[in-house]
Amino acid sequence: MASSSEAGPALSAAPGDKVQHLTKAEETSSTVEEPAAVTPSRGSEPTEPTAIRPTDPASEAAAPLSHHDSAEARSIPTVQKDGPSSHEQLGIEIAEAPSVAALSVDSGERDDDSALGDTSIYTTNTSARSSVYDFVLENGRTYHSYREGKYELPNDEREQDRLDLQHHLFLLTLDGQLYNAPIKDLPGGLHNALDIGTGTGIWAIDFASEFPSANVIGTDLSPIQPDLVPPNLHFEVDDAEDPWLFSNQFDYIHGRALAICFKSHMTVIKSAYNFTRPGGYFELQDCIVPFRCIDDSMKGTTLERWVDLIMQATQKIGKDWTRVRKYKEYLEEAGFEDVVEKKYEWPVGTWAKGKKEKLLGLWYREDLLSGLQGFTMALLTRALGMSTVEVELLLTGVREDIKSNKIHIYIPVRVVYGRKPL
Ligand SMILES: C[S@@+](CC[C@H](N)C(=O)[O-])C[C@H]1O[C@@H](n2cnc3c(N)ncnc32)[C@H](O)[C@@H]1O
Repeated sequence: MASSSEAGPALSAAPGDKVQHLTKAEETSSTVEEPAAVTPSRGSEPTEPTAIRPTDPASEAAAPLSHHDSAEARSIPTVQKDGPSSHEQLGIEIAEAPSVAALSVDSGERDDDSALGDTSIYTTNTSARSSVYDFVLENGRTYHSYREGKYELPNDEREQDRLDLQHHLFLLTLDGQLYNAPIKDLPGGLHNALDIGTGTGIWAIDFASEFPSANVIGTDLSPIQPDLVPPNLHFEVDDAEDPWLFSNQFDYIHGRALAICFKSHMTVIKSAYNFTRPGGYFELQDCIVPFRCIDDSMKGTTLERWVDLIMQATQKIGKDWTRVRKYKEYLEEAGFEDVVEKKYEWPVGTWAKGKKEKLLGLWYREDLLSGLQGFTMALLTRALGMSTVEVELLLTGVREDIKSNKIHIYIPVRVVYGRKPL
């Protein structure tokens, strides 16, 4: 945990792009928020996935995606496909057969298918307290200021709403469970838990509620967590890639959706190993880009071009999204034993057969649409030097493709956990 004063931008903004440092108050007033179609409340009691209604499928066509509509008046860019895609150049497979329960297209392809205590946020360097709240404004979105430039996704309310939506998607995937590791009856009990890259803290809040006698810590580069949380939970601003300085080991350490957070996942996993008590568990939950397609419906689309560009950008900045596939290997290499990898899939849209597949697809499509601008803008402007206008035009076509429900793509999801030997 280092002082924020040593932070320097790892990446520079593209020429002409506006980067500005804001105080927290300015950030609140300057950010133009689009209404999110689905905005589950943060810091709520643990929620049953069955009680969650992302959108009313029957009315979906009319309403929920409307916050993107203004961008669609612009023309759709032509897809240029000269030579092999970056996936091919990078040796990444994209059309691999589904790895778990094979997805199949529902020929109906209708969305209305009837199958359907005291909380403190601080750094170890208290003099840095104000600066970590001074978010950086870039192209209309705000980003963390602690270790400025290190993470490419925004931290504004729009992104926070998306993270909370995605939390429910993970819960739905895991049948309402926050974790897969067998920690309920952990020998010696569960007294200390850590959530790295906690985001809005929604997972940590639910976890602290489920284990009220455990001390839970959530860490993140951004102090975006709420104040009103269970008394056994607190948050710290921290870079998980720094040497860990906690005063105790943990019975359980968790990290979710951290695929492009670290230059070196191994560094973080080794720290997690050192700070897991013997017999305790470490668990990672994540998605893998590139998306997979069960047929050739993605070929030649703007969506395919976007996936190529995202892969190029993440590889260029040393944050390979495909690393998630190696999590099991990494945990074993670090020393964890009995490592388990579970595989899931989130279809993009309601094209896949099956009630759960449709529900996951409905939620994931909303997740993707609401996060699209956030996780594209900084990546493509900073890493590939694209202009904001080029990115917005690209995204217009990507949104069309996603909403069409005719491109049969899904994102592979992995849950990996292992135990530290006694
Ligand atoms: C996609 S979000 C996931 C948030 C949360 N785990 C969840 O599933 O809702 C990734 C989070 O990791 C944080 N992050 C990125 N790089 C980090 C780092 N090096 N150390 C700590 N947190 C980091 C980001 O600020 C962001 O809040």
